[in-house]
Amino acid sequence: MNRQLTSTDLANPDLYDHGIPQDVFADLRRQPGLAWNQGSGETTGFWSVGRMADLVAVSRDPVTFSSELGHIQIYDIDEDVRAKRASMIDLDPPIHTHLRRLVSAAFTPRHVNSYESAIRDRVNAQLDDLTSVGSGDWVKTVAAPIPIGVICDILGVPAGDHDLMIEMSDYLVAGTSDRELDPTAYGNTTPLRELPFNSPAAFGLFDYACRARERCLAHPGDDLLTKLATVEVDGERFSATDFARFFQLMIFAGNETTRSSMAHLALHLATEPDQFARVAASPGLIETAVEEVIRYSSPILYFRRTAARDAEIAGTPIAAGDKVVMWYASANFDETVFSTPLEFRVDRPRLPAHSAFGGGGVHFCLGASLARLELAILIEEVLRRRLRIELLDEPIFVRSNFVNGIEHLRVRVTASDD
Ligand code: HEM
Repeated sequence: MNRQLTSTDLANPDLYDHGIPQDVFADLRRQPGLAWNQGSGETTGFWSVGRMADLVAVSRDPVTFSSELGHIQIYDIDEDVRAKRASMIDLDPPIHTHLRRLVSAAFTPRHVNSYESAIRDRVNAQLDDLTSVGSGDWVKTVAAPIPIGVICDILGVPAGDHDLMIEMSDYLVAGTSDRELDPTAYGNTTPLRELPFNSPAAFGLFDYACRARERCLAHPGDDLLTKLATVEVDGERFSATDFARFFQLMIFAGNETTRSSMAHLALHLATEPDQFARVAASPGLIETAVEEVIRYSSPILYFRRTAARDAEIAGTPIAAGDKVVMWYASANFDETVFSTPLEFRVDRPRLPAHSAFGGGGVHFCLGASLARLELAILIEEVLRRRLRIELLDEPIFVRSNFVNGIEHLRVRVTASDD
């Protein structure tokens, strides 16, 4: 069969050194059908989905496009370890449905809104830290500590352990780039291939969660970890393993992604102050400003699916077993969906929706309401304090083909008088 090939290897982490490679993705969207990305190294070849309509079609059909048959990241893992590593995000219905029902009540918008004042306190504490010295790394002082602090508060992880959570989460992301950790770190004895992100930090989180679960069962508290350890759906509780895997997923998913949007927010605050002056003048724009920051930052670049049966997308035949990669970071700039997509506009209508939280369907981001609330509060507090943000250096991006993260962003912060 003649396959339309991508002209650039989208799996190459170097492509993302300066953020989303907009030109490359624009080319991908222009190609008819889906383009085939040839494999190299640890990566098998895959179909690249760059347009929103195609991405939504794949995302909403978990029967054809499975999360469970292969790895949802771009590199393959051996079949014998797949089940050992899987959390809810790596599973298909009906097991996925059961696990999601165990946790979904804690993440409804109503429930999430009850965390508002705790989030505002955290945001203000971190902004105080930065403004008291006037300059520093926005990622280290603001964007990193807020989401992990919030998720730890919600779960009921003691304050003394928050730094350990940040450290382990950082290593999980580093697993997709170059930074190495000793294989025995955190007391790990599990072969790395059996661990998410091949990282001993995943073992560290798993081990921490097992001990936390024991503690919650022995001394139940009023926190989410206790609720998750004891909640029942159809008479069944989380097993110790599923509980620990959910914990790992939350610490990664609830942390790195929101951090990335908060880091990108600072870039926009610095380079597009007029846009935020509009939000300050019309607070009703907060909601659309939040969506625009998330669309523009696209913290997760892609997730992959494996075709469970023959299918066709955009006229391209896909054979059972083929890998299909949904590039959220491309669909979010699809010019047939968003007018002038490269413009950052705080008043962009909420619909059509962006795909940063996924293209819809059973895996749609569980923490979307929480992430939106955290970002809204951060924007509100920056504007309330009338902070002016200036960049002191170019941002340093995480070297990764999976997350659009920023490692360091040095800024100067002043309260403006006008
Ligand atoms: C801006 C911030 C965030 C972004 C961009 C983001 C993005 C995503 C994406 C792309 C998915 C996969 C969706 C799919 O396959 O359809 C996902 C799933 C998920 N996210 Fe988020 N996320 C964010 C924040 C959060 C937060 C704060 C939490 C934790 C509370 C969280 C927890 C999860 C979980 C547990 C899943 C798996 C859901 C499932 O498999 O059913 N995320 N997220």
